Order: sequence, then C-alpha cells, then structure tokens
Amino acid sequence: MAVLKAQALSKIYGAGQSGVTYRALDQFELEVERGEFVGVMGPSGSGKTTLLNMLSTIDKPTSGRIEVNGTDPGKLNNKELALFRRRQLGFIFQDFNLLDTLSIKENIVLPLVLDAVKVEEIERRLGEIAGVLGITHIMDKRTYEVSGGQQQRAAIARAIIHDPAIVLADELTGNLDSKSAKDAMESLKRLNEERDTTILMVTHDPFAASYCERIIFIKDGKLFSELRRGTNRQAFFQQILDALSVLGGNFDDVSPSRPE
Ligand SMILES: Nc1ncnc2c1ncn2[C@@H]1O[C@H](COP(=O)(O)OP(=O)(O)O)[C@@H](O)[C@H]1O
Ligand SMILES: [Mg+2]
Repeated sequence: MAVLKAQALSKIYGAGQSGVTYRALDQFELEVERGEFVGVMGPSGSGKTTLLNMLSTIDKPTSGRIEVNGTDPGKLNNKELALFRRRQLGFIFQDFNLLDTLSIKENIVLPLVLDAVKVEEIERRLGEIAGVLGITHIMDKRTYEVSGGQQQRAAIARAIIHDPAIVLADELTGNLDSKSAKDAMESLKRLNEERDTTILMVTHDPFAASYCERIIFIKDGKLFSELRRGTNRQAFFQQILDALSVLGGNFDDVSPSRPE
C-alpha cells in the first residue's frame, strides 16, 4: 500500500504577484510504499527542498494533490494540520534541531508527552528505540555534552518515536563527519529493516544515498530517472555516481565520496 502519494504536484513561486514566476515543481508524481527507504537526489535548484516542503505541509502546492496514509493534508484546517504533522510525520533536519534546554531523553519523548501518552508506554518505546540507535547511555545528557553524530541519532529517535506514517529527512548527514554519517545511515537502515519505518530522504551525498532501496532523481522540477538497489551497496554507490553524471547540472554542494 502506498503510504505517500503525490499526484501532478506543481509549485510555482511568485504566482499571483506581478513579476517573475518560477515553476519549481512540474506535474510531479511520486508513490512511496509502506516500509520503503527512498532517496531524492538532483542538482542544486532542481526542486528537492520544494518537494520536501510540500510533503511536510510546510508549504502548499500551487496545484496537484498529496495523500499521506489516506489523508489529503490540503483538506485540513490549521488545527487538524498541526495534529496531522505530529501524528503522521517525522522530521530529521541537517542541523538536528534539538532543544538545548532539554536532556536528550526529554528531546526524544517530547512528541509523546505532547500527545499525553502514558509514562510506561513512553519508557517502553524509548528503551526500544534508544537500544536500536545505540544511544541508551546518553539519555540524561544535554545536547552540548554529546557529539554531532549522537545528536543526530537522538533526532532520528525523536522523529520515529510516535510511529509516524513516514519520516522525511533533509540532508541529514550534511553536518556530520564521515564516521557519524555512516553510523546515522546504518541506524536508519536498521530502523527501516527492523521496524518497517518508511523513510524519504533528500540528500546530495551519494554515500548516504547508497543506503536507500530506491533513489529518484529530479531535474527541473520533474522526475528524471530512478534507480533501485540490488544486493550490493558498493555497486549501488557506483550506479548513483553514474546517474548523477548523466543528470548533469551543478552539484556544488555535493560532499566528496567517502571511504568505506
Ligand atoms: N521561496 C521561493 N521563491 C522563489 N523561488 C524559489 C523559492 N524557493 C525556491 N525557489 C526556486 O525554485 C527552484 C527550486 O528550489 P529548491 O527546491 O530549493 O531546489 P533544491 O532544493 O533542489 O536545490 C530554484 O530555482 C529556486 O531558486
Ligand atoms: Mg535544497
């Protein structure tokens, strides 16, 4: 079953005003199945952030339709939309977005506390997820007492603790060194395999992308091509590099490929 659908999704910036308009997304189609781990790649300016902003309901499409778990967020009022985001979506950001005034544990369980989940249930879920992510020992620390890699794994825990329909991630390895990036991607892969977490991840980084099962390549706001991973991640990494060179465009912000 498709947990996420985007149909004929278009975004025109500057529409409705005099002056220049720009079509950042053009009749874009996407379906993500439950339990899939999908990467989104494309040159700078190809529409990746725009797509993520539409899917995360931060911004509204000019036309077209989105459906998450059977719900069209375009049909919700503000209150319903806030609840929809909190229940159905999980977010992972490049700069972690943890609150400095809270402990790691408090950061992770915040979505459940906001939803008035029982303490025992919170503890149960926290224990399980922290175990998978290898961050059990840092629960009482503050964000500034742990490494960037640990902060990002805490942010991953926060993004999935309420069992969202889909986790949306934007350049989640962008601020990590190569070792931490590898840890973060392996954590995500484990969550995807063991808990069937559905993930859609925008990345410039072919190494990070090689952990996905499927990569969609965007160019000029349209789907350009798609790659599926076989059994070998190394081979997939090379296929991704090849696909990026066919795609062309400007990849100024592409991280250098990483040693294994
Ligand atoms: N708020 C905005 N107003 C006008 N144009 C925008 C806005 N946001 C993005 N764009 C333009 O839309 C295109 C796609 O941008 P974006 O989605 O950020 O691309 P990417 O994330 O792939 O680099 C770019 O040409 C960008 O300049
Ligand atoms: Mg972007």
